[in-house]
Amino acid sequence: MSHDKIRARREALGPHALIRGDALNVMRRMEGDSVDVVVTSPPYNIGVAYRTYRDRREEDDYIGWMRVICAQIARVLKPDGSFFLNIAGSSAQPWLPFELITQLRDLFVLQNHIVWIKSVSIEEKTYGHFKPVNSTRFINHNHEHVFHLTHKGDVPLQRLAAGVPFTDKTNINRRRHAVDRRCRGNTWFIPYETVRHRKQKFLHPGTFPVALPTACMTLHGYDENTVLLDPFMGTGTSLVAAQELGVTGVGIDIDTRYVAVARRRLRVALGQAEPGDEDEMLSEPAMSAEGDGEPLV
Ligand SMILES: C[S@@+](CC[C@H](N)C(=O)[O-])C[C@H]1O[C@@H](n2cnc3c(N)ncnc32)[C@H](O)[C@@H]1O
Repeated sequence: MSHDKIRARREALGPHALIRGDALNVMRRMEGDSVDVVVTSPPYNIGVAYRTYRDRREEDDYIGWMRVICAQIARVLKPDGSFFLNIAGSSAQPWLPFELITQLRDLFVLQNHIVWIKSVSIEEKTYGHFKPVNSTRFINHNHEHVFHLTHKGDVPLQRLAAGVPFTDKTNINRRRHAVDRRCRGNTWFIPYETVRHRKQKFLHPGTFPVALPTACMTLHGYDENTVLLDPFMGTGTSLVAAQELGVTGVGIDIDTRYVAVARRRLRVALGQAEPGDEDEMLSEPAMSAEGDGEPLV
């Protein structure tokens, strides 16, 4: 089905909005300058097996599509807003994230380039998780990109709030720091939570951990008026982060089943449902039938 034919449906959950629909069509209907922070992980075009979306377009077609998506993000993002674009290549498609980001140069300034490290080995010990690559040419792929894009490259950041304590405490007095905190830098080690079976990954092939959108929001800064948008919300991880931080989340996904999982996770975060029952989560209605989803188009 063409994305234009998909009817978007919106439902409110606490202060948040969950929208089942095509990201481009939905964002075209959103007010300009209305979002403070976008944190999103779009399809990477590396053949991930989603339920609805086919993650293997011609490369030009994919980059062209992402450009129009990002132009809409630029339109809805406030002048002092931040857009955190999480993307990765694969061993077979190592250029892709770089090809994409260079195509966004006329839309945004690349204010920071963060490397999300999912697994790292320090001396003899390995921390975090990785998918082993079975190859004689390629080494394991243990990181992803988080491109921090802004309109003019001058958005002030909460470097210390997002920072870490000094390891060598003598630095505090020696360098006259007011607090025991320093900027964490642009390599973020954020491991996945350990899961025991597939259902705990919400039957979605590519989620990010809640700690990732939380770190992005903390770096940008937020208060109770902040609006976070994730146009490819999948299982609603960014919205869970929004709820935990006390900001308003708006999430869009094309797949009714993923929206249902997002709804369930958000209800748990709002204290409206019990955590832990993945079977119940997966039996959530795909989009509620009783009319609380207001048609958008
Ligand atoms: C990488 S996943 C996002 C995962 C999410 N960060 C999470 O933690 O669950 C990308 C998502 O984009 C969705 N998607 C693909 N095409 C879309 C479109 N045209 N509009 C909205 N969502 C779309 C897919 O269904 C998938 O859930």
